Amino acid sequence: MSITGKGKTVAVVGAGLMGHGIAQVFAVGGFRVNLTDVSSDALKQAKLGIKSNIDTLIQHRIITKARGKSALGKVMMLQDMVVAVKDADFVLEAINEDPVLKKQVFKQLEEVCKPDTIFATNSSTISISDLAPAIEKRDRLVGMHWWNPPHLMQLIEVIAGPETSKETVDFTAKLARELGKVPVICKDSPGFLAPRLQEALVIEAIKMVEEGVASPEDIDTACIYSLGVRLPIMGPLRLMDFGGAKVFYGAFEYLSSKLGDRFAPPKLLKDNVEQNKLGIRTGQGIYSYSEKEKKNATRERDEWLIQKMTGNKRRSKRRS
Ligand SMILES: NC(=O)c1ccc[n+]([C@@H]2O[C@H](COP(=O)([O-])OP(=O)(O)OC[C@H]3O[C@@H](n4cnc5c(N)ncnc54)[C@H](O)[C@@H]3O)[C@@H](O)[C@H]2O)c1
Repeated sequence: MSITGKGKTVAVVGAGLMGHGIAQVFAVGGFRVNLTDVSSDALKQAKLGIKSNIDTLIQHRIITKARGKSALGKVMMLQDMVVAVKDADFVLEAINEDPVLKKQVFKQLEEVCKPDTIFATNSSTISISDLAPAIEKRDRLVGMHWWNPPHLMQLIEVIAGPETSKETVDFTAKLARELGKVPVICKDSPGFLAPRLQEALVIEAIKMVEEGVASPEDIDTACIYSLGVRLPIMGPLRLMDFGGAKVFYGAFEYLSSKLGDRFAPPKLLKDNVEQNKLGIRTGQGIYSYSEKEKKNATRERDEWLIQKMTGNKRRSKRRS
């Protein structure tokens, strides 16, 4: 199943907010793209949207004029889905978030596509196992979840359903990398990966507003100037390794006693504390750290924070 490589044809079904942006990324990446939609109006809008995205990329010198022009020439707008998908090596579905509609589309796709075509869904919430019964070759169905706006956001979640083959997953991740994106792979589980993390944070913020803990502005400010500063260099798991598992364990125990089970310390954390896997200071936490990494990790983090701090100061001076 080695179909990655520029010059291949991909089809994107659904030319709405996500579909047109995804089509544009494929085109800039050198693929021929057939973009299809039941609505001719959506296709017209998509054409304008793609042109505008490409102009922005050129304006910011992310791509050259020549590359932008070539990308525009690679996108075909086709209202007839069969024509759009029949020769495609990879078909990504980005239609409305409706499982019934999506299953109809996948069934149709399997009837008209080449036997080795890979099918991907951009669904934000519907699990692959809910869509898989629509087709026979379930090993070729995968989640490829882009973030909005697709031409600027780098993350792509590759979601493996219970029957998705490893080849299909590897292929999709490779394809994402080829497009300059950063793929992560996850199991078919509710909220996939990044949305679940995001929702956990958002729901806590909403609850804090509801409980009158702080104003919405202060909650957002707290997030921007704490988590927001660290997140570009470390996710929550490395963050815990820096802080130390014991600290987090204690915090979870206390918070769960006050705020309920949603803060109860997970077994993995309890096991790590018992086994002295406390993070950077013991060389083993969620991650393992060599002596060199132990020595350099804090310094590297601090250098990054200083850079951020001085950058912020420069920006606020300019503003005043
Ligand atoms: N909007 C987001 O921020 C976002 C982010 C990530 C993923 N997604 C997912 O991407 C998918 C699309 O979302 P969107 O926001 O682009 O929706 P959208 O409403 O902007 O676009 C959907 C398009 O699909 C078309 N369509 C419907 N049925 C079709 C069919 N049978 N064949 C061809 N085209 C058809 C519609 O005409 C419409 O143009 C959803 O599954 C959504 O969960 C959305």
